Amino acid sequence: MISVGIVGATGYTGVELLRLLSAHEGVEVKVATSNSEKGKVVSAVFPSLRSIIDLEFVEHDSKQLNSCDLIFFATPHATAMHHVPKLLEQGCKIIDLSADFRIKSPDVWEHWYEVKHACPELLPSAVYGLPELNRVEIKSANLVANPGCYPTAITLALLPAIKNGLINAKDIIADAKSGVSGAGRKAALASQFSEVSESFKAYSVSGHRHLPEIAQTLSNVQQDNDVNLTFVPHLVPMNRGIFATVYVKPMGHSIDMQKHYADFYAEEKFVDVMPEGSHPETRSVKTSNTCQIAVHPGNSESQPTVILSVIDNLVKGAAGQAVQNMNLMFGLDEDTGLFAPGLVP
Ligand SMILES: NC(=O)c1ccc[n+]([C@@H]2O[C@H](COP(=O)([O-])OP(=O)(O)OC[C@H]3O[C@@H](n4cnc5c(N)ncnc54)[C@H](OP(=O)(O)O)[C@@H]3O)[C@@H](O)[C@H]2O)c1
Repeated sequence: MISVGIVGATGYTGVELLRLLSAHEGVEVKVATSNSEKGKVVSAVFPSLRSIIDLEFVEHDSKQLNSCDLIFFATPHATAMHHVPKLLEQGCKIIDLSADFRIKSPDVWEHWYEVKHACPELLPSAVYGLPELNRVEIKSANLVANPGCYPTAITLALLPAIKNGLINAKDIIADAKSGVSGAGRKAALASQFSEVSESFKAYSVSGHRHLPEIAQTLSNVQQDNDVNLTFVPHLVPMNRGIFATVYVKPMGHSIDMQKHYADFYAEEKFVDVMPEGSHPETRSVKTSNTCQIAVHPGNSESQPTVILSVIDNLVKGAAGQAVQNMNLMFGLDEDTGLFAPGLVP
């Protein structure tokens, strides 16, 4: 049994980890932290977990974490970086769902997150936890930086095209939409019901923190060129889901993008390339760890090819991908505990 601790277990990604891990045969959740709910039993805060998780919340810096094989950080950015060095020294493996270890350059990270990085010396050894790209490295990693939700949907939509040089990497537009749980469970005016329901808006058009993350991954994959991506996030009034509509310019009209995508992801358990021209929906992947992708070729050489990509932001975009990474780090089948299909309706 892998003994697991979750720091930040009262947040949306934290409770999603509790839900997924409670059904995982190889894991025992030993520690769940919260300062705001410290001393309460988990099921008093989340009745959905009554008679499933029998734990009390303990404080975020509880010594009990030291005895865990693996600790998930489901905390706001600039939190994990203060605790991870000591926990690694104690022999714990770490999967950080926040952005603290995703960007390799401390300068770039500090520019976007506007705070000094507490342990830049760990950035080179942190492995970016996108299994479809870094499976081998994740298996032997002690510190995994779990990707962001938008970066997961957009990177999976672009990986086959960028890796095989099928598109102009300098001319990509990613128009993406997220459900409101993407903003977390903490109280905030902008995510209150009356602020988001029956409305639809773009935000951070001039620059979103996920842009350098996506650009870093795709530029590393692209052999000879930087990637130039316009990324515009939107907020939609639904609980879960990311929908990315990605516009790309193929290098030639004869390229069979559908075949390239189907071949690239043929062995992947959590990426489903649908028949050409399909229209994936967020509801089809709700609560599942699957990313569904559909390719729509342009009608003429001047028209872009459109790639549609959907995930559940809390599962493939956060907790599910973290469990996928844990399975790889501990030598388990990659899909252990992640079999559940999407919840419809
Ligand atoms: N939501 C998503 O769709 C999503 C997707 C991918 C990645 N992420 C990333 O995952 C992380 C967690 O997101 P979330 O949506 O679950 O956030 P959230 O709902 O706001 O929850 C935050 C959690 O962190 C804890 N926390 C707050 N300050 C802390 C501190 N100083 N030290 C330790 N724990 C602290 C809170 O515990 P208390 O009970 O004590 O307040 C709470 O349990 C964020 O970095 C986010 O960017 C989120």
